[in-house]
Amino acid sequence: MRVVTINSKLLAPAVAKELDVEFLRPSYGTFPDGESYIRFNRRFDGEEILLIQTTYPHQDKRLHEIYCTTRRLKKLGAVRITAVIPYLAYMRQHRDFSEIEGEGYEIISAEIVVANLRNNGIDELYTVDVHSTEVLDKPEYSTFFKGDLDSSSLFVKYFAQKGIKNLIVVAPDDNAKAKAEKVASKLGVNFLSLSKYRDKVTGEPDIKQLSKKLHYENTIIIDDMISTGDTVVVAARELRVSGVKNIFAACTHALMVNDAERKLKGERILEIISTNSIENKFSKISLASLIAKLYTQS
Ligand code: R5P
Repeated sequence: MRVVTINSKLLAPAVAKELDVEFLRPSYGTFPDGESYIRFNRRFDGEEILLIQTTYPHQDKRLHEIYCTTRRLKKLGAVRITAVIPYLAYMRQHRDFSEIEGEGYEIISAEIVVANLRNNGIDELYTVDVHSTEVLDKPEYSTFFKGDLDSSSLFVKYFAQKGIKNLIVVAPDDNAKAKAEKVASKLGVNFLSLSKYRDKVTGEPDIKQLSKKLHYENTIIIDDMISTGDTVVVAARELRVSGVKNIFAACTHALMVNDAERKLKGERILEIISTNSIENKFSKISLASLIAKLYTQS
């Protein structure tokens, strides 16, 4: 087996190292007009490929590169392609939300992305803490989608080492509840789920006021992703009003769009922590061991 990537430049070689297999990154470039150029310098006859590839930043370009790469790998003789896409873009668009609200007909982008991944050579797909598995769980993908890897244990390890006392783990919304509950229980601390809602016109999030004071000095707000940072901002404000002093913001996927970091700093967030599903300065937790376990544990 061989590990291949284009843009998970730190994660993919780390997995190859853990598995003691060869790693390959094709020649890669971008033409002046923005189109990607990918070239392999060898064939892959009879080989199994583990493709590890993020889809952010520039999700459309990254996805297109995956479709092209996997199609080409198959043409070059690869017999099986397993893809681990640690951050799979478009999975927040898993339903026609406009139809539900009687406002037209949205494209369900998650359906297109998953179909394209399957139809361009990937045999088996894994994601990590994906926002929604609604499309991936459809019966037609039952042999294709092999699972969503859960990174909670890595966050537990990271925070256990800090030995933070007087701590509560907080989910900013229902979607983050299961993860927050798991991390809290493994750290042996309490957990709280906030009630987030979005303004129907502006789309901006807000948090329902907490009914009582929280008697905790420290908190970890944990979510699947930080995008604009607005969710963490409103959650942090509510927690402060309730008496919490120190706030850590943790997520699996740190998209950190535009001035998200500045917004979080404005809320005096002590530290922003993410995995390397997207490689940037916040990715302090490596997913390498979690991905390697797919092959070392049966
Ligand atoms: C939404 O349900 C997600 O789990 C995140 O809470 C959300 O996408 C974070 O986005 P933002 O940082 O833009 O508030």
